[in-house]
Amino acid sequence: MAVLKIGGVTLQTNLLLAPIAGYCDLAFRITCRKWGGVGLACTDLLSPQGLLRGRATSLDLAATNSDDKPVGMQLYGADPAMMAEGAVWAVEHGATVVDINMGCPVDKVTKKDGGSRLLCIPDTAEQIVRACRDAVDRASGGRVPLTCKMRLGWFDAEPVAVWLAPRLIDAGVQAVTIHGRTTQQKFSGDVHHDGINRVVEAVGNHCKAAGFSIPVIGNGDVRSAEEAQAMISKTGCAGVMIGRGALAAPWLFRDAWALQTTGTVPPEPTDAEKIDTIEAYFNLMLHYRDEHYAMVQIRRRISWFGKKLGRGTNARSVPVGCKPLKERIRSAKSPAEVIDALGLFRDGGLRGGGIEVAEEATA
Ligand SMILES: Cc1cc2nc3c(=O)[nH]c(=O)nc-3n(C[C@H](O)[C@H](O)[C@H](O)COP(=O)(O)O)c2cc1C
Repeated sequence: MAVLKIGGVTLQTNLLLAPIAGYCDLAFRITCRKWGGVGLACTDLLSPQGLLRGRATSLDLAATNSDDKPVGMQLYGADPAMMAEGAVWAVEHGATVVDINMGCPVDKVTKKDGGSRLLCIPDTAEQIVRACRDAVDRASGGRVPLTCKMRLGWFDAEPVAVWLAPRLIDAGVQAVTIHGRTTQQKFSGDVHHDGINRVVEAVGNHCKAAGFSIPVIGNGDVRSAEEAQAMISKTGCAGVMIGRGALAAPWLFRDAWALQTTGTVPPEPTDAEKIDTIEAYFNLMLHYRDEHYAMVQIRRRISWFGKKLGRGTNARSVPVGCKPLKERIRSAKSPAEVIDALGLFRDGGLRGGGIEVAEEATA
């Protein structure tokens, strides 16, 4: 299976960790990378204004280090000049790749013409790409690729990505990620593999005529190695971006890469290994951020991790579950109490309650 090449950057695999605002922070990106299989991980969406003004929340979101490479930094907005300045900031602060958000459906972003609203104003989208392309080339000497991440379109009936992606490639993007839903769909309904496939075909035909090749990365609802494989075989995409599936299983990239390269999926990590991963992630949050942040995050994140914990069955073949662990962590008052709860579960305690459906992250 081919690795993925974006501009002059060759990734070790064709699997990418998606941006998920409020979730894919530095600690989580490193947690996924430790399991292997991550070709590129992306920051959550960043405000260029926030970065340029040195706003603490933006700087925290953009934080990266040598364990977090290669990294994409994703910018959102609608002002080409401001986006270009943000892109230069990203290059100067460690971005391996600069990405433009054209998929966010959240009102706060689209009301200011950012995110997926750009799918409705293609001239602006193109101007942003041209401005960022020039700025990134100047700042990096042509070293840093520019990419964009978009949905199939705004309206279900108007799949604009089919013609917008080739247009943005001409303007300077070197890879396109397609979330196989429209803005109208938000996060509901099925991902349209056929819609992603049409973009793959359109980009392929466009680039063939021009004598070069640009990868299209498929995204949406990949929660297992087999689903990553299906994304590739059904759409013809060159790479797969995984978001929510990784929140429950940071080892998903390892699994999906193993399936592509060896034809088999490694054994699922044991509960003890999963707890080690959660503990290491919690410690990284304490290290990179602070106690308040780590406590807030672990209380909400334990629902996601809990989807994969306590999956053995009891004498009546009912999954054992980890409800007591989740309750203990949600009510923990200090890092010591979190570590203590994880230790108890690792030693065989805090099980029960069956598998509860975790709340979904949506935006
Ligand atoms: C809570 C939440 C926040 C998200 N934040 C971003 C973001 O900052 N930038 C972005 O391009 N996409 C964002 N997305 C979309 C994801 O990157 C991805 O396209 C989508 O979740 C589908 O992929 P998945 O099913 O693998 O999660 C977000 C999605 C969710 C659920």
